[in-house]
Amino acid sequence: MGIVLGIESSCDETAAALVDSERRILAQRIASQDEAHRPYGGVVPEIAARAHAERIAPLVEATLADAGMALDDVDAIAATAGPGLIGGVMVGLVTAKALAMASGKPLIAVNHLEGHALSPRLADATLAYPYLLLLVSGGHCQVLLVEALGRYRRLATTIDDALGEAFDKTAKILGLGYPGGPAVERLAREGNPRAVPLPRPLVGSGEPHFSFAGLKSAVLRAHQAGTHSAADLAASFQQAAIDCVVDRTRIALSAVSSATALVVAGGVAANQAMRAALEQLAAEFGLPFVAPPLALCTDNAAMIAWAGVERLGQSDPLDFAARPRWPL
Ligand code: KG4
Ligand code: ZN
Repeated sequence: MGIVLGIESSCDETAAALVDSERRILAQRIASQDEAHRPYGGVVPEIAARAHAERIAPLVEATLADAGMALDDVDAIAATAGPGLIGGVMVGLVTAKALAMASGKPLIAVNHLEGHALSPRLADATLAYPYLLLLVSGGHCQVLLVEALGRYRRLATTIDDALGEAFDKTAKILGLGYPGGPAVERLAREGNPRAVPLPRPLVGSGEPHFSFAGLKSAVLRAHQAGTHSAADLAASFQQAAIDCVVDRTRIALSAVSSATALVVAGGVAANQAMRAALEQLAAEFGLPFVAPPLALCTDNAAMIAWAGVERLGQSDPLDFAARPRWPL
């Protein structure tokens, strides 16, 4: 049995959680900064870093209090050490280092992407390696074959925008506000997905990479032409994005015969139309489709604490440097 305190601050959520080796989330708190970034239509790194610095210490304290615990009760302190917005990453990592130093508990520096990659195992004890993970959020857009703890094969990445970013930019073009994904999905329900002819970048290419910049530009041109309703634009954009994701993931699935499941994580995994399309794709390959609860799919500290649980027994030096870039 072990208990890990996890800290996450690599983007715009300040989060802390306590997770034990029985997969129990003993406490978790998350402070979103959506309000602070909304006027800018995206995450402003300097505003994010300041907000993390203001919130992190009381948030960790409150999380421990929620579980009725003190630092003495935890076995390790895990924090995201990258990749991400460097100011925010430093705030979380420095906090974890201070707590580790004060308590004498080991520090575990976690790769944020490893947190996402292992989070389905926190939700589902039966999920077996290797599984194919489609990670789609505002900051990430990749397909990973999760082979074992510490063994991740990246099969695909985006050559320009992340998928969530494409949703957010489309929302901005259509004047729907930030974060845009949920607003685009809502409006898309009222539109015709075949109304606006839009490109499907890279569909049909043999490598399973992603590209969304051309799709976003096409939405902008179509919007400026003024011939289609916002609902038809939203629906057509969403359909094009889904077609790209399904085609690219199909190529990745075809390349790995060993996968035991298709798993989706990241904020865009909230999209119901996307989920339905991926579920159908998994069925095509005779695989189970796993979509962890949304609270574990979007940025959170429970997944960082869980990565710490999986790494219990290891520790990192207190001078471990924050990494803005850190491929798995
Ligand atoms: O994982 P997340 O909370 O943060 C990171 O970016 O790491 O993901 C947020 C992203 C945003 O781009 C947001 O617009 C998108 O996920 N998103 C959605 C939906 N809900 C959130 N995109 C499409 N449809 C949704 N329902
Ligand atoms: Zn993330």
